[in-house]
Amino acid sequence: MKKDFISIKDLTEKDIQEIFILTDRLKKDKLKFRNILKGKVLALVFQKPSNRTRVSFEVGMYQLGGYTIYLGPQEINLGVREPIKDVARTLSRYVDAIVLRTFAHKNVVEMAEYADIPVINGLSDFLHPCQALSDIYTIREKKKTLKGLLLAFVGDGNNVCNSLLYASAKTGLNMHVAVPLGYEPDKNVLEEAKRIAHSKNASIKLFYSPEKAVKNADILYTDVWISMGQEKEKEIRKKRFKNFQLNSSLVRLAKKDALIMHCLPAHRNEEITEEVIEAKNSIVFEQAENRLHVQKAILIKLLR
Ligand code: CP
Ligand code: NVA
Repeated sequence: MKKDFISIKDLTEKDIQEIFILTDRLKKDKLKFRNILKGKVLALVFQKPSNRTRVSFEVGMYQLGGYTIYLGPQEINLGVREPIKDVARTLSRYVDAIVLRTFAHKNVVEMAEYADIPVINGLSDFLHPCQALSDIYTIREKKKTLKGLLLAFVGDGNNVCNSLLYASAKTGLNMHVAVPLGYEPDKNVLEEAKRIAHSKNASIKLFYSPEKAVKNADILYTDVWISMGQEKEKEIRKKRFKNFQLNSSLVRLAKKDALIMHCLPAHRNEEITEEVIEAKNSIVFEQAENRLHVQKAILIKLLR
């Protein structure tokens, strides 16, 4: 049966460890396995803009000997020019895998259902698994372990937050999430993540106070208040989130050596201050870099 990468929920802790061990090897030598995907073609079907996801998948494929085809919103016009199930079956006749960046998560599920080739979730409104998996790899790389550490996510309970919940739970990383009322992460994801974390002697907690959530945290993480597709809610969201900014007074409540993380793109002086994102313990570009290495490991796992 073909494999997809749609949610971290579908991975075991062992799968994640294997991806990380392969990533370590790929990161050490970027030309390692340089022909392993020779002749393979990856289609990038993107309904939203992207810097990191697009470039890291394209460069990753090239470094492994393969090729990519970028299909932006105008080319495929997913679901409008033709139904997703037809796009899935057509692309399956030409290429070897698809990365889909879309709005509704059900689009990714439908693409995977009808495609005969692996489908990778390159971000939906619900999840961003490539990001969260790379982030956990980055934390492991910096801190040498995951168990016993506390990751505090402050801001919107969005796609990145949902995927970080699954990733933390699966790897035994403790996680606090601080959100304004009404902007909680997905209820089912939160409950499931809590259950999985519990079985790994870790804990996941929801807070409405950022100050309480970040106390003694080893890692502080935030993401934009207005995700792609939510532009109409801009003014109301800016009001609701104003006390959830990652600024130096919040950072002071965490551990002294706490790492600062953001998936990028960042809106400076909205969800994070210039001072905090530029601080010496900010690892946002290490996160961006590791997208490349981790996704190369994912591509090898799915295509070989
Ligand atoms: N973090 C991330 O996915 O960035 P892009 O939207 O630029 O791909
Ligand atoms: N939550 C953001 C992440 C961007 C990488 C968005 O969906 O726009």
